[in-house]
Amino acid sequence: MSYKPIRKAVFPVAGLGTRFLPATKSVPKELLPVVDRPLIQYAVDEAREAGIEQMIFVTGRGKGAIEDYFDMAFEAEAIQRERGKDLSALEGTRIEPGNAVFLRQQEPLGLGHAIWCARDIVGDEPFAILLPDEFMKGAPGRGCLKQMVDAYNQVGGNLVCALEVPMADTPNYGVIDPGKRDGVLTEVKGLVEKPALGTAPSNLILPGRYILQPEVMKILETQEKGAGGEIQLTDAMASMIGRQPFHGVTFKGRRFDCGSKAGYIEANLALALEREDLGEHIRAFTIAELDMIKISAAA
Ligand code: G1P
Repeated sequence: MSYKPIRKAVFPVAGLGTRFLPATKSVPKELLPVVDRPLIQYAVDEAREAGIEQMIFVTGRGKGAIEDYFDMAFEAEAIQRERGKDLSALEGTRIEPGNAVFLRQQEPLGLGHAIWCARDIVGDEPFAILLPDEFMKGAPGRGCLKQMVDAYNQVGGNLVCALEVPMADTPNYGVIDPGKRDGVLTEVKGLVEKPALGTAPSNLILPGRYILQPEVMKILETQEKGAGGEIQLTDAMASMIGRQPFHGVTFKGRRFDCGSKAGYIEANLALALEREDLGEHIRAFTIAELDMIKISAAA
């Protein structure tokens, strides 16, 4: 059976990024670099690799720099060219003409509301959602969304990425009530947003990658406020279970929660250690630094 291809992806980027103040006072958190590429670039690369053609950014006030980022960097490109410098660092930073859509969520009413703002652009086809705070690092050519699209091509319907976390962390996330597991696929029997500690149906959380059928937009239209007084995507998805196929996909790779300072620093360190131009230096520095901490702790 063949299913409608996933051609569009929505990137909710309206959040204020208060956890990274003051850095995010004038720079959108999605543009904070992991080594030398902004977080949002990794999410766009992941979407491209999965075959996404149209990138839909749901932005907000103060986020205009994201739109500039994906445009041509006329001055930087001209100067680099004039100086005979390599332009490869800019590869993939321009979105193909006509394939980037920017729209605004005017009020912070929740993730569900942000997605609903893209309803007319998404139209009547299944689409992907990527939360760029969540940095999902797969093997080359095997990014998280690509793995999910491969699973979608087998089962269709709705899919969410599913990730195991310690039970104590479940109150921070959308959580899956899992059914049967078959390879990387887990049947989704229920979903709950930010359950109170000790009440989560499992430790399988939603780390911010989704493939959804367009009907979710109709549900969001009349969606009541949920956890935290916000319109929750998780609640809208929950009401689709039973009406359409719904699966969790286990991601083979690493996840860094770059919405938290610790996760962001870990991502920087992990990527720097892997880089040919930086790895050795950072490894030596880290070892020396840890030794220093040991010495000062012993003193
Ligand atoms: C959002 C979603 C939640 C998901 C999380 C992943 O929550 O509502 O279901 O697990 O992203 O990061 P937020 O972090 O915006 O509170």
